Amino acid sequence: MNYPNLLQGRRVLVTGGARGLGYAFAQAIAQAGARVVIADILAGRVQQAACELSAQGLDVSGVSLDLADPASITRCLERTVERLGGLDGLVNNASITNSGGKRCEELDIETWDQVMQVNVRGTWLMTCAALPALRQSGRGAIVNLASDTPLWGAPNLLAYVASKGALIAMTRSLARELGGDNITINAIAPGLVQVEATAYVPEARHRLYIEQRAIQRPQLPDDVSGAVLFALSDLSRFITGQTLPVNGGFVMP
Ligand SMILES: NC(=O)c1ccc[n+]([C@@H]2O[C@H](COP(=O)([O-])OP(=O)(O)OC[C@H]3O[C@@H](n4cnc5c(N)ncnc54)[C@H](O)[C@@H]3O)[C@@H](O)[C@H]2O)c1
Repeated sequence: MNYPNLLQGRRVLVTGGARGLGYAFAQAIAQAGARVVIADILAGRVQQAACELSAQGLDVSGVSLDLADPASITRCLERTVERLGGLDGLVNNASITNSGGKRCEELDIETWDQVMQVNVRGTWLMTCAALPALRQSGRGAIVNLASDTPLWGAPNLLAYVASKGALIAMTRSLARELGGDNITINAIAPGLVQVEATAYVPEARHRLYIEQRAIQRPQLPDDVSGAVLFALSDLSRFITGQTLPVNGGFVMP
């Protein structure tokens, strides 16, 4: 994924950039000319990821972040703005799943609350923390990583699905709140992507997803990166409040 000048000079924060999709997004965004900060709860791994990407000649640095902790969110934003000298883009990518494989009555309240705390409250607080810098940018863009699971009603994953449905709803409301500041906000809804975090999903389930796609092959992180680049770039300045499924045609809402 290489569009050298698409995000030239932009300053972008990617949460959850230590591995998986967030890492791929950070790489693609930096290859498109942006300066990038990746933030993650995996403090050692986020520094390692930043080193790897820097060794490729990309402008990427790492900071630690715990989205469950409001003070950590504030610190992360302060450090990001200090390093980048401002902020033009925020990719709300970090999240937890935790509730996989359990029926609704098997879920415990602690798990439900953890998922909501990180995925929903954390994204809300991170967005608020970034707003002053995004307003100052004059052309801010926010990308929320939702999922296609709330679009087709994935079973046995209720807390996660509810949290991603909340992100889609928040994206719509926030688009109206932020439009006057020339800040766009859109959600990307990937299907099942082959990454470390989905290695636990049985092979048979992966096959089922592939068979039900219009494009019948495994989904890889780079399949999602293009949508993120588009949502951060000037190509999408009049698109806001939208949710874009990126799943090879698994659902077509
Ligand atoms: N992989 C998929 O199939 C898939 C499908 C649809 C949507 N998504 C979404 O894409 C995004 C990335 O998913 P992924 O598959 O790369 O998963 P992942 O678990 O590899 O990435 C999530 C990142 O967030 C970080 N994180 C977790 N809790 C945190 C916290 N409290 N504070 C800061 N960072 C924290 C993790 O350390 C990790 O690096 C997520 O929002 C996920 O819901 C993924």
